[in-house]
Amino acid sequence: MKNDFIWGAATSAYQIEGGKFADGKRSSIWDEFCKKKNAIVNNQNGNKSCEFYYHYKEDIRLLASLNIKNFRFSVSWPRVMPLGPGFINQRGLDFYDRLTDYCLENKVDPWVTLYHWDLPQELEDRGGWTNRDIVSWFSEYAAIIVNRLGDRVKHWMVLNEPVVFTGAGYFLGVHAPGKKGVDNYLPALHHAALTQAAGIKTIRSACADAHIGTTFSCSHITPLNPHNIEDILAAQKTDALINRLFIEPLLGYGYPTSTLPFLNKLEPYIKSNDIENLVAIPDFIGIQNYTREVVSHSKFTPYLNAKIIDAKTRNVDRTIMNWEIYPESIYEMIKQFNRYKEVKEIYITENGAAFNDRKIDGQINDEKRVNYLKSYIEQVLRAKNEGLKVDGYFVWSLLDNFEWSEGYTPRFGIVHVDFETQHRTVKKSGKWYSNYIKEFQERNSSIVI
Ligand code: FCB
Repeated sequence: MKNDFIWGAATSAYQIEGGKFADGKRSSIWDEFCKKKNAIVNNQNGNKSCEFYYHYKEDIRLLASLNIKNFRFSVSWPRVMPLGPGFINQRGLDFYDRLTDYCLENKVDPWVTLYHWDLPQELEDRGGWTNRDIVSWFSEYAAIIVNRLGDRVKHWMVLNEPVVFTGAGYFLGVHAPGKKGVDNYLPALHHAALTQAAGIKTIRSACADAHIGTTFSCSHITPLNPHNIEDILAAQKTDALINRLFIEPLLGYGYPTSTLPFLNKLEPYIKSNDIENLVAIPDFIGIQNYTREVVSHSKFTPYLNAKIIDAKTRNVDRTIMNWEIYPESIYEMIKQFNRYKEVKEIYITENGAAFNDRKIDGQINDEKRVNYLKSYIEQVLRAKNEGLKVDGYFVWSLLDNFEWSEGYTPRFGIVHVDFETQHRTVKKSGKWYSNYIKEFQERNSSIVI
């Protein structure tokens, strides 16, 4: 194995930055969603969070000191273009300039996500993802960011987990902007699929040597009863919805309509050139995996006829998100995405776990997180050793942060954050990861000629 496997840590703007209205930033859909009573556990919000906006230097130095040389962060659209197209907030853009420079000064390579869920509220007021204009709004925004940072940032990701932000935000209403139902979901889904392709093309034309990807959430799906045909069909449908819905149109296969006939309802939103406009071959895909799902047939679930049997009900080992700890899932997903011949490189752009960390005598002995990371990384390297494409791993997350509708209760960081004092403490898992990277690099550099 060559020493070119990369190791990193991932974050996102709304989850860590704070600085709600700093330097001309305006509301995102998450700022607004958090104001709704009981939308978020304990009615919390990301107004302050880790104050990364002010503490970024300390955090980048910490990252570098932990041997983590790749940092995935996202740009906050409402910081840079708070009013949507046609207006740039230079002071917001300057922040990402300083952040990029500071990463490079510390020999940390920036991996930038353009959209990690914090849409400017101004654009949501015009329909957000349900408005087809979002494809051009996004393209304008993407070009501005890449023109400004593209001389220094080489690794780009267009969207973070479109399955989640369309499903949770525009169908179930449990994430911002809290919209529900198929009439919101279907246009949001199609416009997000068009946007991921448009984004890849925009970045490419703004920066010829950019390394461009986009990310997908994914989970290995298994039928509850592997001998029951109805459960098997339910698992296939769930797999199409969770794992195939966005990657297949991007790679030129179209939507997985034969497995999910309800996607025929997309027809009114599909315009004449859309089939080719959905296609753009990225340089890499980012896969984000935490768990697997076990699925059974359910005649009561419209469209899908499938039901997820959660980890608690199955009484299996799980994190405090009620996500089953199932390391083979990451291996299976790497294998599944390797089957698309158009996929050139794969990075694990997120993987990690939330447990009830306890600080005792100033130390966080998060043994469970160490074991989780060890077992998942082992499966990633198993895939690599078998010759499957997988080129890097980013842990989610560097810092404890605002976990969307779950607020601050689940802590995913390898670094603990005291949200009152903003004090950072490296957890046992942070030390373990740092050491693991160092040993990995020593082991592998010795066999490279
Ligand atoms: C992913 C999100 C990320 C974080 C983790 C736990 O779905 O991309 O922002 O919330 O889950």
